[in-house]
Amino acid sequence: MVLRFSYILFIFSFIVSCNLSDTSKNETESKQPISKAEIKHLFESNCSSCHGCDGTLGMSGAKDLSTSNLKKEEIKDRIQNGKNGMPSFEGIIQEGEQMDSIVSYVISLRK
Ligand code: HEC
Repeated sequence: MVLRFSYILFIFSFIVSCNLSDTSKNETESKQPISKAEIKHLFESNCSSCHGCDGTLGMSGAKDLSTSNLKKEEIKDRIQNGKNGMPSFEGIIQEGEQMDSIVSYVISLRK
């Protein structure tokens, strides 16, 4: 299951290519639960179509994540339940470590 998920991420990383920085060391898929590269891929494959790689794209009315000031719980709520043009990612972003990581990633996009 985890393997298949990594595989999907790997495929997606080719489709959505953001060219931000290094994603070239995927060969040694780490044993850690979730790596930085995976979180980045998670964001790029699920979120960047509207938010852009740096959170500022604003497609389909998406809010600029670099100027957002939502709290962690509110970000989690948006991801789980969606809002207006923002779809729900319930079941796509897994509750727990994956969710926590992506919430932190969203916060890290702030200026
Ligand atoms: C189909 C386009 C789309 C995708 C894909 C998308 N979003 Fe959004 N997002 C939106 C829109 C539209 C809003 C504004 C919702 C509203 O009206 O408040 C939004 C708002 C948000 C907000 C709230 C920002 C604020 O300050 O109110 C967060 C956080 C967020 N998105 C994170 C994510 C994350 C993380 C992902 C990927 C898991 C994601 N979004 C994927 C369209 C999208």
